[in-house]
Amino acid sequence: MRTVRTVEEVRAALAPRRKRGPVGLVPTMGAFHDGHLSLMRRARGDCATVVVSLFVNPAQFGPGEDLTAYPRDETRDAALAAELGMDILFAPPHEEVYPPGFDTSVAVHRLTEVLCGDPERRGPEHFTGVTTVVTKLFNMVGPDVAYFGQKDAQQAIVIRKLVRDLDIPVRIEILPTVREPDGLAMSSRNAYLAGEERECALALSRALRAADAAVASGRRDAAEVLMAARRELDAAGVEPEYLELRSAEDLSPAERVNGRTLLAVAARVGRARLIDNAVVGDE
Ligand code: PAJ
Repeated sequence: MRTVRTVEEVRAALAPRRKRGPVGLVPTMGAFHDGHLSLMRRARGDCATVVVSLFVNPAQFGPGEDLTAYPRDETRDAALAAELGMDILFAPPHEEVYPPGFDTSVAVHRLTEVLCGDPERRGPEHFTGVTTVVTKLFNMVGPDVAYFGQKDAQQAIVIRKLVRDLDIPVRIEILPTVREPDGLAMSSRNAYLAGEERECALALSRALRAADAAVASGRRDAAEVLMAARRELDAAGVEPEYLELRSAEDLSPAERVNGRTLLAVAARVGRARLIDNAVVGDE
């Protein structure tokens, strides 16, 4: 695996490889866990060449957020990516992505104003930071396929919309959430969980399972399904930032579970802001 740091280098490394078959891109902010690795494995299976990008993108962190605390270990990440047979690690420095005078952003509207994008929460600016950097990564690398995780369900929906609205010639693959054996969705931010917070954090996945069980037993009314989830959060003393049922296609509010309905939850547990989701009612 080669580590490259500039757009020129990544393009030069890819030029002779493009004729061998599809180029896959796995965008990341590093601190790899099995969720990231699952995207890399799938990309390795699908593509002739795989690029993993590693860039902790300041534009998607709000003023009070964890940009400086965000876990960083490029040496460990590079070793893991190399073990999985990745071809190129693209790890640009800040100035390569945002040179002095950088003045452009790419925003997807509406979808970014709910759930995490609610102005009272992370806000739409978070997603604008994501769509701006992802657009840049697409333009820098020119992948045929790009891989994202269902763990960040709203991000995945927003990126699909970005690609559709701007006719970006890349296929988007969304892969299932990878969990710890006890159900906790893997996240780089789980590293912030101390002592008993780890136990409290389990309430999120438990809430999703309770809601799923309620749906399986025939409940369809949103209030009832949400109640089943809420009980698990209450039992652990976890106050959700949100707990909502929305269309898994366009995030419109769902009064009833019918078809693919997204149950999304966010909650702060200690220092960690955690998110998780499940698609329920998918027959
Ligand atoms: P990051 O949080 O590093 O995640 C990189 C990719 O891994 C994302 O597509 C995310 O959804 C996926 N992922 C994270 N945890 C996962 C899990 N438990 N199971 C499956 N997939 C998981 O998401 C970002 O970085 C950034 O916003 C980025 C897209 C790189 C733009 O900066």
